[in-house]
Amino acid sequence: MLFVDQRQKGSTLIIVVFVSLLFAISPTEGYDPLDPNGNITIKWDLIVGGSAPTVLVTITNLQQYRHIEQPGWRISWDWKNHEAIWDIRGAEATEQGNCSAFLSSSAPPPHCCLRHPVIVDLLPGSPYNLQVANCCRGGFISSMNQDSSKFASSFQMSIGSSDTEPYEFSVPENFTLGVPGYTCGNATSVEPTKFTEKNRRHKKQALATWHITCVYSQIQSSPAPKCCVSLSAFYNETVVPCQRCSCGCQGLSGARCVNKGEAPQLLQQHQDPTVEVPPVVQCTRHMCPIKVHWHVKVNYREYWRVKVTVTNFNVIKNYSEWNLVVLHPNLKSIQQVFSFNYKPLRQYGYLNDTAMFYGLPFYNDVLLQSGETGNVQSEILLKKDQGNFTFSEGWAFPRRILFNGDECVMPSPDDYPRLPNRAASADISLLPVFLSVLLLAFV
Ligand SMILES: *[C@@H]1O[C@H](CO)[C@@H](O)[C@H](O)[C@H]1NC(C)=O
Ligand SMILES: *[C@@H]1O[C@H](CO)[C@@H](O)[C@H](O)[C@H]1NC(C)=O
Ligand SMILES: *[C@@H]1O[C@H](CO)[C@@H](O)[C@H](O)[C@H]1NC(C)=O
Ligand SMILES: *[C@@H]1O[C@H](CO)[C@@H](O)[C@H](O)[C@H]1NC(C)=O
Ligand SMILES: *[C@@H]1O[C@H](CO)[C@@H](O)[C@H](O)[C@H]1NC(C)=O
Ligand SMILES: *[C@@H]1O[C@H](CO)[C@@H](O)[C@H](O)[C@H]1NC(C)=O
Ligand SMILES: *[C@@H]1O[C@H](CO)[C@@H](O)[C@H](O)[C@H]1NC(C)=O
Ligand SMILES: *[C@@H]1O[C@H](CO)[C@@H](O)[C@H](O)[C@H]1NC(C)=O
Repeated sequence: MLFVDQRQKGSTLIIVVFVSLLFAISPTEGYDPLDPNGNITIKWDLIVGGSAPTVLVTITNLQQYRHIEQPGWRISWDWKNHEAIWDIRGAEATEQGNCSAFLSSSAPPPHCCLRHPVIVDLLPGSPYNLQVANCCRGGFISSMNQDSSKFASSFQMSIGSSDTEPYEFSVPENFTLGVPGYTCGNATSVEPTKFTEKNRRHKKQALATWHITCVYSQIQSSPAPKCCVSLSAFYNETVVPCQRCSCGCQGLSGARCVNKGEAPQLLQQHQDPTVEVPPVVQCTRHMCPIKVHWHVKVNYREYWRVKVTVTNFNVIKNYSEWNLVVLHPNLKSIQQVFSFNYKPLRQYGYLNDTAMFYGLPFYNDVLLQSGETGNVQSEILLKKDQGNFTFSEGWAFPRRILFNGDECVMPSPDDYPRLPNRAASADISLLPVFLSVLLLAFV
C-alpha cells in the first residue's frame, strides 16, 4: 500500500499515510499523544472535621483543549458509611432520596440521603446564598488553554451519618464524572491544600485532601467519529468531500437524520436538561455533526494562505466555546490568524506543529445549530518553511484535525487534490510570482 504512489515521488505521501495510520490507532488506547498528561482532577478538601464535617469539592480540567460542554458534569460516588448531605452550596443533588433515617422534629431533613448521589452544577444566576466561588455555570468547564478563568468548578457540602457510632469522615469511592468518555480512578491522599485568601498573608490549610483523576478516551465516549474533513486547493477545481459514512451511514439502523428544511419535530420532546441529547444531523453522505473544510487559498512568494470553515450539521445543538486542534508541520510559522483565536500546543516542545484555534468571545465562539448560520470561518497566513514547503503530494493539507478534542475523519490521501500534471514541482515556483502580481493588482 505504501508503494502506490511511487511515480509521484511519494515520500511525503507515505509520511502522511504513516502518520494517519499511527494516529488512527492511538485513540483506541485512551491515550492522547497531543495531550499525554491531560486529565480532570477532582479534589476533596476536608475543611471542617468532627462528627459534622464540611468538604470542598473542586473539579479542575487539566487538559490542554478538551472541555466539558453542556449539559455539563454530573459527578457521583458511593458513600461508605450511610452518609447524607445535610447542606450543599454551589451545586445540588438530582434527587433527595429516602431521608426517613434522618428525620427529627428539630431540624429540616438533609438535602440528599442517597448512597449513590448524583450532583450537578447550579445554573448561572442561582440565588447568591447558594453559591460558592467557581460555581454555577451549568456544569460547563473550559480547558486550560481556552479560558483559564473557567477551568475549575467547586461546591461545598456538610455531611452527616445515620450510624449510631460517632462519625468520622471517610472519602467515598466509585467516582464517576458523568461525562461520556471519562473514567475516574480511586481517591488518593495528597498533601493538604493551602488556601490563600485575597489581601491576606495568612494561609489556611485543609485538614486532609484527596485527589481523584479522571481520563478521557474517545472510543469510550462514542465508537463513531463526530467530525470529518474535506479539502480543496486553488490549483485544482476538485473539492475532496468528507468520506462517505465517516460518522454513520444513511439508511442503516440507528442512523437518524433530517432533510434540509424538515422540522425535527420528534426531537422537541421534553428532555432532562442535564442529560446529553444524541446529535440529530442533517442528511449528508458523511452523516457527521461537524465538517471542517481546509482550502489552500493563495500562494504568495514567501507565504501561503489557508481558509478554514467549520460547519455544524447538528440541528439541535449550538457548540459554545468550540475549538479545533490542527496538526501541520508549517504551523510553527503562523504569521496571522483572522477571526479566530490561536494558541500553539507545546506538547513536544521541539516540534510546534500543533495549534489550537477557537472563536472570539461574543463574535464566533458559538457554532450555531444547523439551519441558523451554522458555520464559522477563518483565514490563516503562514510563512513557507524554507526547504520543506511544497504544494505537491498533499503536503499543504493538515495531518490531523480534532474538533472539541475528538478526532475528525480525513479523506484518503490517494484522493487529495493533485497539482495539474504540467506544474510539477519545478514549474510551481513560477506560480508564486504570477499570483503575487495578481494579488498586487487587487491591493
Ligand atoms: C493531570 O494533569 C496534569 C496537567 O497535565 C499533570 O501535571 C498531572 O501529572 C496529571 N495527573 C495525573 C495523575 O496524571
Ligand atoms: C463500588 O463498586 C463496587 C463494584 O460495583 C462495589 O462492589 C462496591 O460495593 C462499591 N463501593 C461502595 C462503597 O458502594
Ligand atoms: C426508607 O428508609 C427507612 C429506613 O431507613 C425504611 O424503613 C423505609 O422502608 C424506606 N422507605 C422506602 C419507601 O423505601
Ligand atoms: C480502587 O479501589 C478498589 C477497592 O478499594 C480496588 O479494588 C481497585 O483495584 C482500585 N483501583 C485502582 C485503579 O487502584
Ligand atoms: C441556538 O442558538 C440560537 C440563537 O441564539 C437559539 O435560537 C436556539 O434556540 C439555540 N438552540 C439550542 C438547541 O439551544
Ligand atoms: C518551538 O517553540 C519554542 C518556543 O517558542 C521555541 O523555543 C522553539 O525553538 C520552537 N521549535 C521549533 C522547531 O520551531
Ligand atoms: C523539514 O522537515 C524535516 C522532517 O519533518 C525536519 O526535520 C526539518 O527540520 C525541516 N526543515 C526545516 C527547515 O524546517
Ligand atoms: C485534481 O485532483 C484530483 C484528485 O487528486 C485529480 O484526479 C485531478 O486529476 C486533478 N486535476 C487536475 C487538473 O490536475
